[in-house]
Parts: sequence; structure tokens; C-alpha cells
Amino acid sequence: MPASDTPSVTRRSAMAGAAASAAAASLPPVALAQAPSAAAPAGALEAPVTATLSLTVNGEAQSLELDTRTTLLDALREHLHLTGTKKGCDHGQCGACTVILDGKRVYSCLTLAVMHEGDAVTTIEGLGRPDSLHPMQAAFVKHDGYQCGYCTPGQICASVAMLEEIKAGIPSHVTADLTAAAQTTAEEIRERMSGNICRCGAYSNILDAITEVAERQA
Ligand code: FES
Ligand code: FES
Repeated sequence: MPASDTPSVTRRSAMAGAAASAAAASLPPVALAQAPSAAAPAGALEAPVTATLSLTVNGEAQSLELDTRTTLLDALREHLHLTGTKKGCDHGQCGACTVILDGKRVYSCLTLAVMHEGDAVTTIEGLGRPDSLHPMQAAFVKHDGYQCGYCTPGQICASVAMLEEIKAGIPSHVTADLTAAAQTTAEEIRERMSGNICRCGAYSNILDAITEVAERQA
């Protein structure tokens, strides 16, 4: 066939064009929108957004430059090297990461550090020292309130703040009776501490430790 008679669309190019059209038609709009463009080369990552954070940790002023996605837990452990606070689930399910934030117990894995500009954080390292234990730490030692100890910093921070909640008259689900005696029953303490899981099952000894401190404070 002379060159001038060769069709401009061959069977091969027509099939390739049809296949490309079909593939494009099957992509959801969002996938098309996310296809790499010449302006953003494939694989390029955006630089993280950072912020400066000032807060007080265990009585000491701290200033940190952080990726704004950093949790309070990671700020404490990875940036301030306060590894007493433990990462268990990292999903708000175990309580191992509990710290005291402006007097209230919080799961530090569930809150972003940059939300706490100017706040005061107390971790297990700030409650007491080996030679001068906080009364709750001493009670946990006395009553053997742990086995592996992984949940213990969170249990102790939670129990210290929990007794403050009772003093402040904050009710729980168990009882609306705000007298100190009713608030420190075993049932009440178990309910209030139910957000702190112990895989070793040291619950009865933990309860004994907290009860002793609660009775002393009553
Ligand atoms: S590590 Fe935060 S709740 Fe488990
Ligand atoms: S002492 Fe091991 S998880 Fe509580």
C-alpha cells in the first residue's frame, strides 16, 4: 500500500486509545484529582507544619518546637525524654499514658501537645522521687499494686487526680452521693478507675493502695 494510502488511525492505536479512555472513565473523580501534576512531582512530601509550645512540666518551664501533629504523649516521651509515662494502645483505650493536666487526669495519647500552650503537666516523675515518694506511690509499693509495672505510672497519676475529683465533689456514674464516705467505697473507686487497664490483673492490690490513701485523706 502506498504511504499516502496508510490510514492515520491504525487498529493498534485505536485499541490503545480505547483502553486509556476506559481506564480514565473507571477512576473515581477524587483519584483523578489526586493524580500527580507537573507542579508537584510524584513522591514529594509537604514539609510538616511546626509550632513553638511553652508549657510547665513537673514545675519546670519548657519550650518546644514541634510538628503540630505531635501528641502530648510523644512530646513528653520523645522530646522531653520523660519516659515514665507509657504508651500502651496509643488510642485512648488503656490509660497507660495518663498524666495530670492542670489538675485533671487526661490520656496524653489523645490530645495534641500544641493544644496546651501555657498548661501545667504533672507526670509520674513529678509526683515524687525515689527518696521521697508521693503517698500514692508509697501505697502502691506497700500493697504490691503492680506486677510488670507498665500500667503503673498511669494508674498512679489517675488515682491521685481521681481522689481530687472526689474532694471537688465531681460525681461518677455509680453514685450521686457526694459524701466522702460514699465516694471512697470499693465500687466507687473501681468505677472511677475503670479507664485504666492492668493486663497483669493487679486490680485488687491497686484498689487496696488507693483505698488506704483515700481513707487517710478523708
Ligand atoms: S496509650 Fe493512651 S490510652 Fe492507651
Ligand atoms: S502491672 Fe502489668 S499491666 Fe498493670
